[in-house]
Amino acid sequence: MAVNHVVHVNECGLPLNAIEWLVTHHQSKANERGQMIRDLHLKSGSLVVDAGCGPGLWTPLLAQAISPAGQIIGIDISPEALVTAQRRSTNKWYRRQVQYKRASLEQLPIERGTADLIFSANVSQYLSDPVSTFAAMGPYLNDGGRLVIKDIDFGTMRFYNVDAQLQERVLRARARWELERVDQGYAFEDSWVGSKLAGYLRAAGFQDVQEKTYRIQRNYPLPRNFRSYIQGIAEWFVCEGAPHLSNDDVTNWLHCFLHKTDTVLDLDTFVSEETEYVVSGTWQSSSLERHFDMHIEHSFASEHIPSTQE
Ligand SMILES: C[S@@+](CC[C@H](N)C(=O)[O-])C[C@H]1O[C@@H](n2cnc3c(N)ncnc32)[C@H](O)[C@@H]1O
Repeated sequence: MAVNHVVHVNECGLPLNAIEWLVTHHQSKANERGQMIRDLHLKSGSLVVDAGCGPGLWTPLLAQAISPAGQIIGIDISPEALVTAQRRSTNKWYRRQVQYKRASLEQLPIERGTADLIFSANVSQYLSDPVSTFAAMGPYLNDGGRLVIKDIDFGTMRFYNVDAQLQERVLRARARWELERVDQGYAFEDSWVGSKLAGYLRAAGFQDVQEKTYRIQRNYPLPRNFRSYIQGIAEWFVCEGAPHLSNDDVTNWLHCFLHKTDTVLDLDTFVSEETEYVVSGTWQSSSLERHFDMHIEHSFASEHIPSTQE
């Protein structure tokens, strides 16, 4: 039987967004996430926007990177996430460095041209028009400021002791469903977004676009939080009725990961692998013109493709 509900949904209807789930996900990749922020080599005293900050899990990592002289504005559309973020920061060493505000990615609550860095983790997968959203974020950066987008790409996910053909069918079915599910009333989602980000940033007018990948591998025995993460993901792959999978595939898949006593997670052959993407681009005041020029060139080119009769 497929899982019919949306898995770990938040109050905005986004799957894999419930606060408890976000905390588990964060803890299960804590080392890699710390490294991602250190690799940004942020300047002390920077003004950073954490765009789609959720419950503020990245705040301490960012605060440490910019030193007490820096400031973080965490924004999100979810009031529940913002209340949690505010509560989590109370009495913490970084509390004077952070403010959480309700806002969308396209309309940040800061003066234009002031941010040194806009960081956004695990949000781009929910953007139906990521190029326009990134182009709208650019003008909030100062000249030379950076937009950094971090996200997943489930096309890179592998479980080494699960039947390879079953895995392929499950991943292919979900990829197909993601193209259709908006028409069935679900919120937009692209869980294959990671490898597309560099192209999106270039199309939005960003320069010096750089992609860095982080391979996340875990072997048996699994830490408890990573086990919960994998079980949540496995359930998510076959949620919303799993329309493109047979009942046998759904049953076998759920057995692999969620059976009470007999899961692949408890075998010493268990290895999982997934690659996450961190993509950065620099904003110059001329970037917006570049974005519009690219759009005009693109629409001009597509309007003037000669037909075979011409
Ligand atoms: C998967 S959570 C990630 C939270 C956090 N960045 C993290 O990595 O733990 C995605 C968050 O983005 C927020 N979000 C989605 N679309 C947004 C938008 N257009 N503007 C602002 N926040 C948005 C959601 O409310 C949610 O809190």
